[in-house]
Amino acid sequence: MSEHQPLLEIVADAGAAASRAAEIIAARVVSGRVKVLGLATGGTMVPLYANLVAAVRARRLSLGGLTSFNLDEYVGVAPRLPASFHAYMRQHLLGETDLDPARAHIPDGMAPDLAAEASRYEMAIARAGGIDLQVLGIGSNGHIGFNEPGSDFGSRTRVVGLSEATRRANAAEFPDGAVPEQALTMGIATIIEAREILLLAIGAKKAGAIAAAIEGPISPDCPASALRLHAQVRIICDKAAASKLDGPQADIRRRA
Ligand code: PGA
Repeated sequence: MSEHQPLLEIVADAGAAASRAAEIIAARVVSGRVKVLGLATGGTMVPLYANLVAAVRARRLSLGGLTSFNLDEYVGVAPRLPASFHAYMRQHLLGETDLDPARAHIPDGMAPDLAAEASRYEMAIARAGGIDLQVLGIGSNGHIGFNEPGSDFGSRTRVVGLSEATRRANAAEFPDGAVPEQALTMGIATIIEAREILLLAIGAKKAGAIAAAIEGPISPDCPASALRLHAQVRIICDKAAASKLDGPQADIRRRA
């Protein structure tokens, strides 16, 4: 696989990143280029979803024709619990738009046979014709989905162990301290099969991961570096998240 340079857009702040990402997604949905949308969770996505909800309410956008696939879900956290990604999606997008819940797929972290659930999920993506546009956040350790450092670039949807860094980053969602140790996640290969990828990164705590993803070695040590094996990747960062880049991108940053 040859190496590609992601298209990098550096914007002023989180609000600008969310509205730019929403504008790109809405344009693709309205034109019909995106019929299957890959979705992510996390704090970075909250303002993006708020923008999409506002566009749907203003009747500038309908998500009614879409099929969606979320990246991941915790193992053993029931969908009714507020910390589950099912609850997150209901709160931020599903309950607020015309996206059909029957076509909004999220891995079932409560499935009795998690390996079977992982294969079922891969098959559902394939049956839908593959993902047209996958939205991604990035962990401060470079993870995409819950593919932690060390994840094989050939990996597909599977059960993974969560790193201590990730469990700490997500601990606030689990006030009882019972942060899950495992998740079901699309693999790196699943993610980079999407026709187009849009990654959002906000804040100084993502700066090291963004620099490693764009300028470091392409290696499982930084799972997001796998995105350089894909020709259609756009990364939208705020200035803080771009602050550790020192290649040609740094000039773009200075001009932004
Ligand atoms: P965050 O999570 O948006 O809450 O920072 C991103 C991620 O871990 O992928």
